[in-house]
Amino acid sequence: MTPNVDSQSFGTVHYSNVYLSIFALFCVKLFVKISLNILTHFYVVKGNRKEAARIAEEFYDFGQGHIPSAESSSEQQPENTPRKRTLENTDDYTAKRKPRCWGILTSQGSWADRSPLHEAACQGRLLALRTLLSQGYNANIPTIDHVTPLHEACLSDHASCAKALIAAGANVNATTIDGVTPLFNACSAGSATCTEVLLENGAKPQSEICQPSPIHEASSKGRIGCLEALITWGADVDYDIPHLGTPLYIACISSGLQCTQKLLDGGANVQKGRFLESPLHAAAQKDCTEIINVLLEFGANINAKNLELKRPVESAPPNSSAEETLLLHEGKIMLSSHGNISLIPDQFVLYS
Ligand SMILES: *[C@@H]1O[C@H](CO)[C@@H](O)[C@H](O)[C@H]1NC(C)=O
Ligand SMILES: *[C@@H]1O[C@H](CO)[C@@H](O)[C@H](O)[C@H]1NC(C)=O
Ligand SMILES: *[C@@H]1O[C@H](CO)[C@@H](O)[C@H](O)[C@H]1NC(C)=O
Repeated sequence: MTPNVDSQSFGTVHYSNVYLSIFALFCVKLFVKISLNILTHFYVVKGNRKEAARIAEEFYDFGQGHIPSAESSSEQQPENTPRKRTLENTDDYTAKRKPRCWGILTSQGSWADRSPLHEAACQGRLLALRTLLSQGYNANIPTIDHVTPLHEACLSDHASCAKALIAAGANVNATTIDGVTPLFNACSAGSATCTEVLLENGAKPQSEICQPSPIHEASSKGRIGCLEALITWGADVDYDIPHLGTPLYIACISSGLQCTQKLLDGGANVQKGRFLESPLHAAAQKDCTEIINVLLEFGANINAKNLELKRPVESAPPNSSAEETLLLHEGKIMLSSHGNISLIPDQFVLYS
């Protein structure tokens, strides 16, 4: 090993040192994480969850004072691991957000600091929840990641638990370190009742910039009940998130006919998509004739060009029914009574 390294050039040695340092850093981080989990577990076994949370919070250095308000999350952040994770999660939050009920290792961050109130809310045990609250449990008790019992109740679609928590003073606008609100969780889980309960109790219908957006989540997952409630309570139907686009675009790219219809009925701009990509481009790509028809009905422009300067009809898969629908709409072709396709001489043909 050593003679081999010696015989190599300085550059190689230099690089292997770099790799070694990276590996060492990784090991140290892993070690810290494991020790922290063991430590918090120890405290939980001893029945002292608060102490566990406090230790972990001190360790990670985001006590109540530094809770990221995530509007500023893309700028001026010091380079510490939790913030980085937050940014990554904001990018693909739909994929990563899963029910946390199945305990150990599945929930993000440390699993050990969930209170009995979190458990009761997650499992929808209303009686246990009420008992705990009457025993003086704080309805807003957070985990290390600032997940509150209300987050859990909404993610598991337990509206009665959510009501009980709100009645006991739970903050409807609480955000986790990933910027997730209970409203987002309700939309993610497709819980129309929880969505309504939250909105009725003053939850803000719209996320801050750079935070996971409830209306996008509802649109992407086809949560029509949640979407309806959000629109009713004044969420911006044209809320444009740069890397995601508008809710309408998300609905079209997810082939959600009902959501598309609901958004358009709610006054969404039929042309606004993601950058130059219009909702019609998305529907054409997905070969969704029903959505294409709805969009055309609302006046979508069939000549809009995307970044590749393609029109929607050119984004459709070749010989697809989407292509046919769009061509039909353009009036360039018609299906003859015998089912064959023939070109109608239109302006283009006449002038060329
Ligand atoms: C939640 O946030 C919104 C907007 O910031 C605010 O208007 C509302 O009062 C807040 N609700 C509660 C219960 O704090
Ligand atoms: C589309 O249809 C034409 C004739 O109708 C055929 O020549 C062509 O190969 C088809 N393309 C695809 C990708 O199926
Ligand atoms: C298409 O239909 C017309 C009648 O509308 C017929 O005259 C023509 O021969 C058909 N063409 C083909 C290629 O089948």
